[in-house]
Amino acid sequence: MSINWYPGHMKKAHDQIAQSLSQVDAVLEIRDARIPVSSRNEELDALTARKPRIIVLNKKDMADEQATEEWISSLRKDDQRAMAMEATKERPARRIYDVAAGLLSTQRAKRESRAMINREIRLLVMGIPNVGKSTLINAVAKKRTAEVGDRPGITKHERWIKTNANLLLLDTPGIMPTKLEEAQAFHLAFTGAIRDDVLPEQDVGFALIRLLMARASETLAERYQLREMTDPLLVMDEIGRKVGALVKGGEIDYTRTARRVIDDYRKLRFGRMTLEIAP
Ligand code: G4P
Repeated sequence: MSINWYPGHMKKAHDQIAQSLSQVDAVLEIRDARIPVSSRNEELDALTARKPRIIVLNKKDMADEQATEEWISSLRKDDQRAMAMEATKERPARRIYDVAAGLLSTQRAKRESRAMINREIRLLVMGIPNVGKSTLINAVAKKRTAEVGDRPGITKHERWIKTNANLLLLDTPGIMPTKLEEAQAFHLAFTGAIRDDVLPEQDVGFALIRLLMARASETLAERYQLREMTDPLLVMDEIGRKVGALVKGGEIDYTRTARRVIDDYRKLRFGRMTLEIAP
């Protein structure tokens, strides 16, 4: 299975990012710490490849702490930094500035030696929907949709966000990859990045049960008081019975069963869990 995702409408957003690149020093890419692979948009990565990059693994409060640490080390490279974040709780402007200043130090030193102005650091913020991009921008914005006025090499644009650090952020729309592979689509559905009516809920719930059986079988068994844990179909049946998701005649209501498991996952009832392991 693969899903094609509104390519026409996305084209405009891609073009917007391509055009904005010359105005920024680096890219701030937001991902979901629970699914650092699936919440990445490889098409945007390719589009922005020539810029240094900072990857934010947001919603760290929902991911496994150790797994996030491993991801952060694995994502750190020469031209790339990574940081974990909880955008709903933080005011991260200064932290982002410090990481960006470290990443761009050579470039900025060159610019200063060429006697150019010591201007603010400008980052293009990108990510797929639901990773917390708006939350992060609100958490750093000094003033929402701030006017930045006349500055060299910058077009006057309401999408520039001023922060209290020496940092300007350029907001871009949340963009899904135009094509999703099955595993990626399911992971995005588990975390709510894909609307619940896009994929059949029963399939999403079943896939999640299989994943939980492999990754958190004890917690799963404990949560629903399960006895038998070998066949995912039987497990889904048993969960349906245990949570009372039944239709007339005592048949299992698979949609309600699925919804319940998905909701329990999103509400951290199986604990903080990272679904994808760092390489
Ligand atoms: P977006 O712009 O990238 O699309 O995402 P947005 O900021 O709208 O955030 C999506 C949801 O994720 C919001 O929840 C938001 O509160 C939540 N969120 C953002 N950052 C964090 C974080 O660091 N930790 C946690 N736990 N949640 C975070 P919502 O309004 O309830 O939407 P939804 O969850 O019902 O979709």
